Amino acid sequence: MRSGEGIFQARKQHFKPGTNVVTAQSLQQARDLFPFLFTPETRPVPQVITNIEDLRILAEQRVPRMFYDYADSGSWTESTYRANTTDFAPIKFRQRVAVNMEGRSTASEMIGQPVAMPVAIAPTGLTGMQHADGEILAARAAKKFGVPFTLSTMSICSIEDIAAATDRHPFWFQLYVMRDRDFIERLIDRAKAANCSALVLTLDLQVLGQRHKDLKNGLSAPPKLTVPNILNMMTKPRWCLGMLGTKRHGFGNIVGHVKGVENMGSLSEWTAKQFDPRLSWADVEWIKKRWAGKLIIKGIIDAEDAKLAVASGADAVIVSNHGGRQLDGAESSIRALPSIVAAVGSQIEVHLDSGIRSGQDVLKAIALGAKGTYIGRAMLYGLGAMGEAGVTKALEIIHKELDISMAFCGHTQLLTVDKSILLPGSFPV
Ligand SMILES: Cc1cc2nc3c(=O)[nH]c(=O)nc-3n(C[C@H](O)[C@H](O)[C@H](O)COP(=O)(O)O)c2cc1C
Repeated sequence: MRSGEGIFQARKQHFKPGTNVVTAQSLQQARDLFPFLFTPETRPVPQVITNIEDLRILAEQRVPRMFYDYADSGSWTESTYRANTTDFAPIKFRQRVAVNMEGRSTASEMIGQPVAMPVAIAPTGLTGMQHADGEILAARAAKKFGVPFTLSTMSICSIEDIAAATDRHPFWFQLYVMRDRDFIERLIDRAKAANCSALVLTLDLQVLGQRHKDLKNGLSAPPKLTVPNILNMMTKPRWCLGMLGTKRHGFGNIVGHVKGVENMGSLSEWTAKQFDPRLSWADVEWIKKRWAGKLIIKGIIDAEDAKLAVASGADAVIVSNHGGRQLDGAESSIRALPSIVAAVGSQIEVHLDSGIRSGQDVLKAIALGAKGTYIGRAMLYGLGAMGEAGVTKALEIIHKELDISMAFCGHTQLLTVDKSILLPGSFPV
């Protein structure tokens, strides 16, 4: 067994404040020294990561329970959460053969912006609690891959952090409408100043859906230092070391930007009162005017609402039930997609999220008329598992599955894909 000093020297060498470098060697040293801090591995850790499920298993082992549960859960009975993924399965492809499959491309555009594949990173709150500086790492991975990154209002890293960490590469900013309209105006102005190229306005969170696990775990950011939380965090040394190396532990877009909200205690009071239950389409028009750029409306699951979104002047709608986190019992996104495409698809871009765990899911959504898709949990699992490299891995996995499946369906360009690649009778209409 090594001396106690060894690990502290390893920490000095491998762990610079502001970065998240924890090497396999320093982790092994920690395991040798403090075996009781590590969770006994009940499930085999995937040696080779080949799919999103492998990343999920790794994330479950590496992220403290309250934050892992925060990501991997839906509201109430989780029926919509489950349906989002299971409703993709019955949709079947038509396999074609003896078609030249060379020279393939998944490149496309979302709201007129070129993308390496039509898969954006969805906005997710508290991403910097899945992994230290999580939003920065995911934004960097998205930039390198050539897909849009969307920053949540409820992020840990701030709008300005993302701009600085990506050399002002354009990203998208997701806005929640709060009662404090001055704050909203300032947020919009900050997003403009940070070179954001689209505003994603979320409409399905006027009131909060209930996730049982979050209440039971006492979810908070940073986590409250209760005995069960401390014990659980002690089993996640990689996560703890990362968190020690960053100063970003609170809601970066809010703390210090709102009068009277200087610490986390006052923040939780503020947010509980802030989400605006009176939000209306008139507010959407006001926001569009103030933003004066590309506007994407997120949280549409009904064709009537999609028509109202068109009337509000939006550039795109995201067919989304918030990943099954809001109305339990709402329709899955993939089932809702065809009726929304039929209602507004000729006037506005229709995007989709909720339930995407593979490139095949992306291909099915594109075939059913979506111009773009978003990944929430698939990204979070990658991040929790391996930081920036894990987000890149998630994007690579999805890209490969998308590219190969497209080829099997007899297409070399994603832009030519339509409903004809699907087996009649197997998809929702
Ligand atoms: C942990 C978590 C946090 C989320 N936070 C936000 C948020 O702050 N703003 C928002 O508009 N949507 C939020 N969402 C919803 C995602 O943007 C997206 O709609 C959803 O994750 C898509 O489903 P998927 O996770 O199955 O891909 C969140 C989702 C998760 C899983």
